Amino acid sequence: MENRSGIRKVAVLTSGGDAPGMNTAIRAIVRTGIRAGLEVYGVRRGYHGLIRGDITKLETRDVSEKLNRGGTFLLTARSESFMTEEGRAKAAEVLKIYGIDAVCVLGGDGSFRGADKLNKLGIQVIGIPCTIDNDVASTDYTIGFDTAMNTALDSIDKIRDTSTSHERCSIIQVMGRNAGYIATSVGIASGAEVILIPEIPFDIDRDVNKLILEGRNFGKHHYIVVMAEGVGSAEELAREVESATGIETRATVLGHVQRGGSPTLKDRVCASLMGIRAIETLLESKESFLIGEKGGELVNVPIEEGVNMTKSISPEMIEKAKLLF
Ligand code: F6P
Repeated sequence: MENRSGIRKVAVLTSGGDAPGMNTAIRAIVRTGIRAGLEVYGVRRGYHGLIRGDITKLETRDVSEKLNRGGTFLLTARSESFMTEEGRAKAAEVLKIYGIDAVCVLGGDGSFRGADKLNKLGIQVIGIPCTIDNDVASTDYTIGFDTAMNTALDSIDKIRDTSTSHERCSIIQVMGRNAGYIATSVGIASGAEVILIPEIPFDIDRDVNKLILEGRNFGKHHYIVVMAEGVGSAEELAREVESATGIETRATVLGHVQRGGSPTLKDRVCASLMGIRAIETLLESKESFLIGEKGGELVNVPIEEGVNMTKSISPEMIEKAKLLF
């Protein structure tokens, strides 16, 4: 790989909620960077660590045995101080002290908005989308999404066994913050009777209770409702469904189990390729980009453009899910 930009030192940090595959991406950045003759530094505890100068040089062996491990060995944080101008100025100063030319930021949209602000202080930044929520607009896919969905699916399959034995309704809340990407795909894959996401308003009698009662009348022995956390409280919905249908109903909040575990093949491949792409980009250019995947291809979106993009889920997916009921 030819070094056209003249870059010498690059740092990598993980920020916001962790996602399975972050370690895989760090490994790819470290190994590709060192192979290209760069010095690679790890910043611990995200932007918080950047402000504090919590930085160490990484060598090839520091990323051994990491690609299959969940979480982030660099640790992560949601930094309050980086939200302030003063905090960001300090972070830029620390990078200057270390002589670091560019920072690879692994995180979601909040982390990228922070990266954009750092870029405005003259720091070159490359963003790699890592969040289980898949809610980053500059990319079709975010690292960690596939692993989280498979974890949720596995749990729902188990809940379905007990739900069927007791002929109950199970309300299962999945993560996703304000987005319904996890709920939609997991709902389809688990054969849920009802999928509720924040992007589509619903009427409890028409869109939930009626479908459950119809299911019972078809001879169903379980009723699965997958709801995104952005929709509201699973406990409250369970109480309302039980009272309206007379069917015993339980709520399960899957929670942080969805954020852990060994990344799937898809997440490992995506994280490895995006990590390599980050280094290739830094060797080519002095501009800041968000790496993404669009239509199955890796793309570089200029950071300012990327953080201003919006993304919305296709309501068609929900309509199609209803055909399978
Ligand atoms: O953004 C990832 C995510 O797991 C969301 O799905 C969830 O709303 C949030 O983070 C939980 O954050 P925390 O781990 O800080 O409770």
